[in-house]
Amino acid sequence: MAPSFSFPLLFSLSLIILFFSALSQNDEFQFAGFKSGNITLGGVAEADNTGILRLTNETLRLIGHAFYPVPIRFKKPADGSPFSFSTAFAFAIIPEYPKLGGHGLAFAITNSSSLPGALPSQYLGLLNDKNMGNASDHLFAVEFDTVQDFEFGDINDNHVGVNLNNLASNKSVPAPVNLKSGETIQAWIDYDSARKVLDVWLDTSSAKPAHPILSYAVDLSPIFLDEMYVGFSASTGLLASSHYLFGWNFKMNGAAKSLDLSSLPSLPKQKKKNYALLIAAPASALLFLIAALIAAGYLFYKIKTADVIETWELVTGPHRFNYKELKHATKGFREKELLGQGGFGKVYRGVLPGTKEQVAVKRVSHESKQGLHEFVAEIASIGRLRHRNLVRMQGWCRRRADLLLVYEYMPNGSLDKYLFGRDPFSPMLTWPIRFGIIRGVAAALLYLHEEWEHVVLHRDVKASNVLLDGELNGRLGDFGLAKLYERGANPSTTRVVGTLGYIAPELSRTGKATPATDVFAFGALVLEVVCGRRPIETKSAPDELVLVDWVWEKWTAGRWREAVDPRLSGVFDGREAEVAFRVGLMCSHPVPASRPSMRAVAKFLGDGFSAEALELPSSPPTTGGGSHEVGFEDFVHSYPSSSFEKASWSSSSDPSAGKVGRRNAAAEEEGPLVYSSPV
Ligand SMILES: *[C@@H]1O[C@H](CO)[C@@H](O)[C@H](O)[C@H]1NC(C)=O
Ligand SMILES: *[C@@H]1O[C@H](CO)[C@@H](O)[C@H](O)[C@H]1NC(C)=O
Ligand SMILES: *[C@@H]1O[C@H](CO)[C@@H](O)[C@H](O)[C@H]1NC(C)=O
Ligand SMILES: *[C@@H]1O[C@H](CO)[C@@H](O)[C@H](O)[C@H]1NC(C)=O
Ligand SMILES: *[C@@H]1O[C@H](CO)[C@@H](O)[C@H](O)[C@H]1NC(C)=O
Repeated sequence: MAPSFSFPLLFSLSLIILFFSALSQNDEFQFAGFKSGNITLGGVAEADNTGILRLTNETLRLIGHAFYPVPIRFKKPADGSPFSFSTAFAFAIIPEYPKLGGHGLAFAITNSSSLPGALPSQYLGLLNDKNMGNASDHLFAVEFDTVQDFEFGDINDNHVGVNLNNLASNKSVPAPVNLKSGETIQAWIDYDSARKVLDVWLDTSSAKPAHPILSYAVDLSPIFLDEMYVGFSASTGLLASSHYLFGWNFKMNGAAKSLDLSSLPSLPKQKKKNYALLIAAPASALLFLIAALIAAGYLFYKIKTADVIETWELVTGPHRFNYKELKHATKGFREKELLGQGGFGKVYRGVLPGTKEQVAVKRVSHESKQGLHEFVAEIASIGRLRHRNLVRMQGWCRRRADLLLVYEYMPNGSLDKYLFGRDPFSPMLTWPIRFGIIRGVAAALLYLHEEWEHVVLHRDVKASNVLLDGELNGRLGDFGLAKLYERGANPSTTRVVGTLGYIAPELSRTGKATPATDVFAFGALVLEVVCGRRPIETKSAPDELVLVDWVWEKWTAGRWREAVDPRLSGVFDGREAEVAFRVGLMCSHPVPASRPSMRAVAKFLGDGFSAEALELPSSPPTTGGGSHEVGFEDFVHSYPSSSFEKASWSSSSDPSAGKVGRRNAAAEEEGPLVYSSPV
């Protein structure tokens, strides 16, 4: 739980003096504390009566700004060359969780003291995703960043960087001190316009160290306008810190005075957990005993009710919510808020109490104990996956056997609803939307397979795991089953996870998920989206319809247009549809080595249309005989999901590949199928 921000009323105020001199053009100003209020505050920033300026507290996704109220001339009127400037300021960052800061604080020189449109989180309240890197931003910032954002190439989660119109730093160095220690830290930033060099110093003392931590040769004249605002910005995201400022000196064309840290307001000592002191204090034996009993009782209570904290949680990763927050957000996991139910648990709509942001909260129930443990260990890295076609995990909470996963809310729900929905009012997905979804999912899988730091297998690509955002972009969700394995390492899994119709034939035999098994599932998805039919359709009597066989039939007969979803009424782009069929059929190849990689698929779908890139055989491919057909008896099913038990199975006698077993029409399941394979 975030400690609430409060200062003792009788906190010593006597030493706080505000020096301030009106600024004509190139003078200086000094703030020893921000008590006078002569600073323009924005966002949630506020100054308290001790002179401490708090830019953000520990609530998610906040922005705090503090700017000098009037713009300052930064260029010589004569020739437009920039002035030199120098500044020193004292700040402290207190993170919500001891080792997890979020996100950071920046000294900024900008064309605006309000920074309209700026975003919190990794954008530090300075820019947004649209204006990043635009020369018209006129933004100079020195960031003190406590989160490593891969998106911006951050070097670590404790660095100082110089940012020009961008959050990808033009120069950055690891901070020599722990920025989120809560200690008061002084930073000095000097720009020498004659040498065109920017220097940054950092220390926990009042004296400027001999050597800067960062020296960057840069001409700031394109960044500066004649007049600019100077100030600070800080933000929180999924991780949150309180960002404080205690004093600030600034001088144009001269050296700003260092701040005397001892004369500045400071935060009260953190009042947490001084049990040791309590025990050491002279006390009668009885008092001690009582205290010890109370403490033991309290500790016992804490341990019994605490959210379970994993060691990795303290290292990195997405935000950990507390249980109460999520319970409140979902109105106590009310049935009315239920968005859906998958094989691994129920999904609820929630509204975060702080930000009023909508989220989807997946409650992984303790019945599915298997995998839960390993999965928990992977949240830290899964939570850092970032791609516009992935549903982002925002955080989690673990309480006893329950795991709660918090995802971005996708207003349009899952793809299968649209493809097969019986609701006559659900909008029809037009061809451009369908093709866009296929490309989006391909891009997401390419990212998972090849572009992230590890190979990530999704393992459960299917229409109900593709969610549609507000603009009907396809976003792959539910990494509940994804497992990481290091590039090149042999995956040694013996559990087959997947959904019938999407399970590659070799996966059912070997139990080994590979990128090629994801590609197979993607192929099934593509055909599904184009044809508007499930991979294994049970309704089309007398025989069930195996989509890929049926499409092959149409394809080889040159009548593939007939396979396109009739609900499109013939309105589709013929070339795109042909590309989609080729991709779908090729990805559904029974021999893994013959399936294209996601890179090839994405390329083909993207610039595509060079048909030779994915040449199809003239007749449906087979495994080339000897395929080991697997029946239900071969599996020891280890996942007692009700949907699984409802399904009735028969082992297939048809040796053609791609069919693992069949289920009858009763099985309108949603959840993944999990069973152990005899490896
Ligand atoms: C605040 O600073 C501005 C800009 O220098 C100045 O004009 C104004 O008088 C100051 N206000 C107070 C209350 O000190
Ligand atoms: C943080 O600030 C916001 C906005 O001022 C406020 O709504 C929220 O309650 C504060 N959170 C804490 C933990 O003080
Ligand atoms: C700077 O900001 C002012 C006021 O918001 C605006 O009118 C002006 O166009 C901006 N200049 C540039 C170059 O962006
Ligand atoms: C940069 O910003 C300007 C003004 O907002 C806008 O007109 C221009 O299109 C932007 N350029 C790019 C490349 O986004
Ligand atoms: C700073 O970095 C941004 C983003 O990497 C780049 O676009 C820009 O050209 C760089 N500016 C300078 C002056 O190096």
